Amino acid sequence: MPSSKSPVVVTCTAPVNIAVIKYWGKRDEELILPLNSSLSVTLHQDQLRTTTTAAISKDFSEDRVWLNGREEDVEQPRLQACLREIRRLARKRRSTGDEDPRTPSLSDRVHVASVNNFPTAAGLASSAAGFACLAYTLARVYGVEGDLSEVARRGSGSACRSLYGGFVEWQMGQRADGKDSVAQQVAPESHWPQLRVLILVVSAEQKPVGSTAGMQTSVQTSALLKFRAEALVPAHIVEMARCIQEQDFPGFAELTMKDSNQFHATCLDTFPPISYLNDTSRRIMQLVHRFNAYHGQTKVAYTFDAGPNAVIFTLDDTMAEFVAVVRHVFPPEVNGDKFLKGLPVTPVPVSDELKATLAMEPVPGGVQYIIATQVGPGPQVLDDPDAHLLGPDGLPKPKPAA
Ligand code: DP6
Repeated sequence: MPSSKSPVVVTCTAPVNIAVIKYWGKRDEELILPLNSSLSVTLHQDQLRTTTTAAISKDFSEDRVWLNGREEDVEQPRLQACLREIRRLARKRRSTGDEDPRTPSLSDRVHVASVNNFPTAAGLASSAAGFACLAYTLARVYGVEGDLSEVARRGSGSACRSLYGGFVEWQMGQRADGKDSVAQQVAPESHWPQLRVLILVVSAEQKPVGSTAGMQTSVQTSALLKFRAEALVPAHIVEMARCIQEQDFPGFAELTMKDSNQFHATCLDTFPPISYLNDTSRRIMQLVHRFNAYHGQTKVAYTFDAGPNAVIFTLDDTMAEFVAVVRHVFPPEVNGDKFLKGLPVTPVPVSDELKATLAMEPVPGGVQYIIATQVGPGPQVLDDPDAHLLGPDGLPKPKPAA
């Protein structure tokens, strides 16, 4: 047993995920149960990840949480829901006699510190990686095993999909208590090694409406959302899973773009309307369609969440040419070296014929930078004690390790 001076400390990382069939709308706000199933691709943590440390000690007088070095209000309802849920699961495990004698007492308080390795300014949904990491780390520190969908979901719906690597479906479930509203892997990260992901970070002109508030208004006002959830998404989920299983890129790409467009159509059908896309987002869409038309096949797909950034899917043999085309249409405004982050991409020229087909006037600075990445694994435990974000006193270390 640990002495009262040494807290039990665990550090884990979790990935970002991007939905190719979107979740938009809840049937239960409290339990965070969705109106439709959704399907996502887990991005590689070499490029984008959240790191979370949880420490438990008898010496702590209260639960405390730090995000990117700043202390947060631990009373936030969603944070409280995750803590309650994990302690409930831990209690259940103990009552069934599966207890590991080294696990800390449930009455001990927890300190949690979490950092993202990507700038919040990038406008990427960090809550999915953040709550998945919280659920996974708390489970490790409290000795809880099994599916953690419910814990992560109570933090943010899309977070349950970040509990697994590869390709993941969040099944909406049927039960009122949400026990069957869980994430499940459709295919592992090794399944489609050629798939590549480019995040095009676009300058936002305005602060977008958050997803939680946005989808609430959509549920209340959009008839299109209801129709989409009931009549269209079920078949799209089946078709998307088939495209992934068969590595059918054109099928995967077309359905991804159509689903993104349909999600943004439901946002416009919301009253008052919500628009997440800006002029640059629409130019990227045009660029993708013209690029595909030039090649006579669907080689690139876009998808957009609750903001103007584009997420592009393509295959390894097309990535360099598409990056060159993005550079051509959106010439980097300041430092050309910092335009491309993540996976290395060999510079290639854009042919005059392709430039002529695109027929797009360059917009300098429209895309701030690109992050090149690929499909990746689910959450990981970091064994190196240097990775801990909390020191032996249970307070954030002066310099975060991630
Ligand atoms: C457009 O999971 O952020 O990214 O459950 O209210 O926290 P809450 O919403 P959230 O919504 C994500 C919406 C989306 C689509 C998706 O990721 O499926």
